[in-house]
Amino acid sequence: MHTIQWSDTYLIGLPDLDAEHRRMVAMINAVIAAAADGNPPKTVLGLIDDFMALMLPHMKTEQEMMEPLAMPQGIAHRRRHLAGHAEFIRRINALRADIADGRECNSDLDGLGVFLTVPELINSDYEMVGELRRERLLHNG
Ligand SMILES: [Fe+2]
Repeated sequence: MHTIQWSDTYLIGLPDLDAEHRRMVAMINAVIAAAADGNPPKTVLGLIDDFMALMLPHMKTEQEMMEPLAMPQGIAHRRRHLAGHAEFIRRINALRADIADGRECNSDLDGLGVFLTVPELINSDYEMVGELRRERLLHNG
């Protein structure tokens, strides 16, 4: 079973987002553990919903933070970062459908690998901080 091990290298230096990232990793591991333990789809879907209840507002916060980026590099970053969010949501929705239809759950955990892309999203946040700083849009750092 592949879970995500929290690493302080994931810290981006913004305490609120860092705290949410830490909670996300714990919630993802709960989803993966519940699936691996053979829990019914309803249980696994409920845990995914709990995770998304944190993830969606988190993504919205980041989107709002990136809105004022105006330099070419900042705009390019925002485009990549938003595409990463959209792709993640697309894959989560596909996974939810697979679990609901019984195509994915306790036997084949491949679909849950979508969660393993979360460190990439956190890496994207790290780049975001750099772009916000470059354009002097970060007031607390
Ligand atoms: Fe994030």
